[in-house]
Amino acid sequence: MVLDFLKYYWRAKTTHQVHSEFVFNFLQNVIDNPSHSQPLKLIEEKRQKFLKSNEKIEVVDFGAGSKGPSSTKKSIRNIAQYAVSPPFQCLWLYHLVRAQKINRVLELGTSLGITAAYLAQGNPHVQVTTIEGDPNISKKAIELFDQLHLNIDARSGQFNDVITDLVKSSITYDLIYIDGHHAKIPTLEYTQRLLPLLNPEGVIIYDDIYWSEGMKEAWQELKQKFVGALMMDFYFWGIVFPDKKDIVPNDYTLIPKKWKPLQLGLWQ
Ligand SMILES: C[S@@+](CC[C@H](N)C(=O)[O-])C[C@H]1O[C@@H](n2cnc3c(N)ncnc32)[C@H](O)[C@@H]1O
Repeated sequence: MVLDFLKYYWRAKTTHQVHSEFVFNFLQNVIDNPSHSQPLKLIEEKRQKFLKSNEKIEVVDFGAGSKGPSSTKKSIRNIAQYAVSPPFQCLWLYHLVRAQKINRVLELGTSLGITAAYLAQGNPHVQVTTIEGDPNISKKAIELFDQLHLNIDARSGQFNDVITDLVKSSITYDLIYIDGHHAKIPTLEYTQRLLPLLNPEGVIIYDDIYWSEGMKEAWQELKQKFVGALMMDFYFWGIVFPDKKDIVPNDYTLIPKKWKPLQLGLWQ
């Protein structure tokens, strides 16, 4: 993974080196946007509480998607440390919802609810649906949403089962964020099932595209599948705008400008 990151880092371009107006604006407004707000501080306080909690809960091991040791009992601290996205990524989600005027989000993988909470703060109208397979973890997330007074549709169940229900309801989404079950075949299958639920101009985010050989292969297969679509590799995320086919080149490797401060685009 270190080698993958180094290769990514070498390839990655910052906002100074992209010519597409859409990609430039995306970097500026979403990835390089440093602004915070008071509600986000409250979410981070809750994260700190989780990180200090020794409470243990019985959990189901889904096999892929959590970076910690696999056991049936886990402390909340362990889940918060290994399974929850770091603040910088949560902030990307928040700014994405703001910048892209996203009104409906579907998240696969709630965990303790931190990313769902960020998504829900993105704009006053956004409606977030999030799915978690582990009933005890889901309970913790629902408690968090109640404490933060967030009206989030938290579904407890296997991704495939809940997707079946969502397909029947025929609600569609502007953002689909896949942050669980990080394995090749499930990732490709979820994509296939979820595509009809994505609005035109919508965006799909795949978390951890370098997590395993299978996930790396999945990202390459997605490139074949979404031929001509705008694809962005941020190492921690792969982002696809399936209907954005007017941008040439369409396949980007990108990085926040503060992570590559010497890349000013003077020698490209
Ligand atoms: C990486 S965590 C999500 C983290 C969360 N989005 C955050 O950053 O705050 C992935 C979650 O997906 C759940 N999960 C994995 N596979 C699943 C499946 N097939 N069905 C339902 N839930 C699943 C796991 O229990 C885990 O809590």
